[in-house]
Amino acid sequence: MLDQFHAPVLLGEISRLAKPRRRAVDCTAGGGGHAAALAEAGLQVLAFDRDLDAVEAASRRLAPLGATVTVGKFGDEQVQERISAFRPDLILLDLGVSSHQLDDEGRGFSFRQAVPLDMRMDRSEGRTAAELLNSVGEQELAGIFTEYGDERRGRRLAREIVRRRKTVQFATSDHLVGAVRAVLGPRSGPPDFARIFQAVRIAVNEELSQLNSALPKLRDALEPGGVIAVISYHSGEDRLVKRAFAEWARECVCPPHQPLCTCRGEALGSVETRKPIVAGPDEVAANVRARSAKLRVFRRGNDG
Ligand SMILES: C[S@@+](CC[C@H](N)C(=O)[O-])C[C@H]1O[C@@H](n2cnc3c(N)ncnc32)[C@H](O)[C@@H]1O
Repeated sequence: MLDQFHAPVLLGEISRLAKPRRRAVDCTAGGGGHAAALAEAGLQVLAFDRDLDAVEAASRRLAPLGATVTVGKFGDEQVQERISAFRPDLILLDLGVSSHQLDDEGRGFSFRQAVPLDMRMDRSEGRTAAELLNSVGEQELAGIFTEYGDERRGRRLAREIVRRRKTVQFATSDHLVGAVRAVLGPRSGPPDFARIFQAVRIAVNEELSQLNSALPKLRDALEPGGVIAVISYHSGEDRLVKRAFAEWARECVCPPHQPLCTCRGEALGSVETRKPIVAGPDEVAANVRARSAKLRVFRRGNDG
């Protein structure tokens, strides 16, 4: 049985989308929970994850159901080509970090004591959180904390990090927690650390640029009438998805004062979720990760 902390978020909503559909792509396989539910509902499932550990775990679960899991980022062209060739009528993105990644201290996502600052979802490339904190300029650091961590003292925190790293390089969670405490005060606690660690993780994995570049390509990969469903956990991600879906659903995207329409002149489909779907109180009580989850769904037009 699944322990609740590892339970896939908004599983009932995702399972409901399976109904008239045949081929699903899960771009963020994680522990394979959503993908397994879709496969069990009779869909052919193709899944991806950028994290090799997740691919191995999800494969063990999904192979007996006939679903395949491959390592890759949904923002990468080769992955998008494979998705298009599969001709899906359902595409799922359950963004962010998995509970398995958070649990594995060696991966460095957690603010528990003495955890190495890594935070890369794909450990074969990119800079670690420690490398980022030790090298990025003060202004860029401030932007990371303000934009991705909703931290109003982002500039002060950036200054403190730059000051501290001149004498001791950042290597473990304790260094980052120490800097946060120094700026936010002794009353700062786990919710503050979680926000700041999330900000660093988003920067390390370039999560918003992956999402931004992938969304239109994934929409175009959908069969007419197919849906793309995105579960996000961060206000920046949700805003990006909301704006993209709203723009796709507009008939005309010409500048407001242009006398004649010269754009595509038709909506690409419809937004199926006027407001984001969120988890109910029972799910939130059972699974703390569901608390900030927001699901938005866009349906590609029939003649799209
Ligand atoms: C919230 S978990 C997904 C959980 C999954 N839905 C389940 O049922 O277990 C998010 C997963 O997305 C993966 N991920 C994040 N960004 C990605 C990207 N750009 N491409 C592929 N996988 C990504 C992470 O490695 C992580 O395993």
